[in-house]
Amino acid sequence: MEAIQSTTQVIDQPRRLLSLVPDEVPGGPPVIDFSPFYGNDTVAKDVLVEQVRDACLAKGFFQIVNHGIPEDLQQAMFEQSKDFFSLPIEQKEKYDKASHPNKLGYERFRSQNFEGKTAGDLKEGFFFGPTLPKDHPFVQQGRIHCGTNMYPSEVSDPEVFEKTVKQYHQLMTNLATNVLSVVAMTLNLGEDYFKQFCHDSGAVLRLLHYPPQAADASEEERGIGAHTDFGSVTLLLQDDVGGLQVFDKPTMSWIDVKPTPGAYVVNLGNVMMRYSNDTYVSNLHRVINKTGKERYSIPFFFSGNPDFVVDCLPGCEDADGKCKYPPVRIEDWIFGRHTNTFEKGKGMEELSSLAKVA
Ligand code: OGA
Ligand code: NI
Repeated sequence: MEAIQSTTQVIDQPRRLLSLVPDEVPGGPPVIDFSPFYGNDTVAKDVLVEQVRDACLAKGFFQIVNHGIPEDLQQAMFEQSKDFFSLPIEQKEKYDKASHPNKLGYERFRSQNFEGKTAGDLKEGFFFGPTLPKDHPFVQQGRIHCGTNMYPSEVSDPEVFEKTVKQYHQLMTNLATNVLSVVAMTLNLGEDYFKQFCHDSGAVLRLLHYPPQAADASEEERGIGAHTDFGSVTLLLQDDVGGLQVFDKPTMSWIDVKPTPGAYVVNLGNVMMRYSNDTYVSNLHRVINKTGKERYSIPFFFSGNPDFVVDCLPGCEDADGKCKYPPVRIEDWIFGRHTNTFEKGKGMEELSSLAKVA
């Protein structure tokens, strides 16, 4: 598969590899230069593949820079997001995703509850799916996150809001596809191995706003409780406030994912863990916003084609040739996890491992 350029700007000179930035947190997700993906330097590309493989094996988390998404578009997304979240609550709630047939729109405060120990996670959000024509079969069939997106009319410039979100969604779809090409290479599969998997993939762009938690909040207060992501890969843009943490199994502790300007925090979701038969980690992470500041982040969740059945990738079978998980259709998996965390508001099986964590 041809590398999909994420921007109109062609990166033809792979920059120097940045395996470590000076203030990288020890044990935190490494910062990886993604530009060799777009270039012709096969040695640099091999290094990229190796760095991504190591990160997928270790924590299932890494960060990418020189990924091709323009910084001004990232900034424009944050501006539009802040503009929306600053609206009065009654206006935001008009777009409530819970009553949208495809679960697109405004995510109310505390409507998700990952750990199930508080009234809910201290965040609000907004979900956008891909822009699909009305006669697209997924729209006709009412598939989850595949319908008519809602664009709030109360923001300062509704046209700019819609245009920015659509452009960003498209570029992030390209970037997620490119990241999966690298993941395929890390497993010694061809660069285009995931082509069918990526075709018409579920792709959710989520704006998130985490207010600072109250000074007297309980110790169990969470911006987003500990969880793993549902799909194949998540690309998260965070502002400079901080508060995201990733679980470190060897020490059973949490490590801060220090904001790196312009970088995407990339993490593998449950689909990739199952697909790779646990070769790769889909790791726990959470947000606790004790900074006293408003925090904004923009994750992009790429799940795979909803009808694709994930079994076990070649070369990832156990020693006896077997797989740990039964095959699962992507849409069934995503729907189940979405319902479990939004509509039932209960903690999940993976939290049993957390009980041991301080
Ligand atoms: C998520 C998530 C982290 C963040 O939305 O799944 O983990 O920093 N977000 O917002
Ligand atoms: Ni997450």
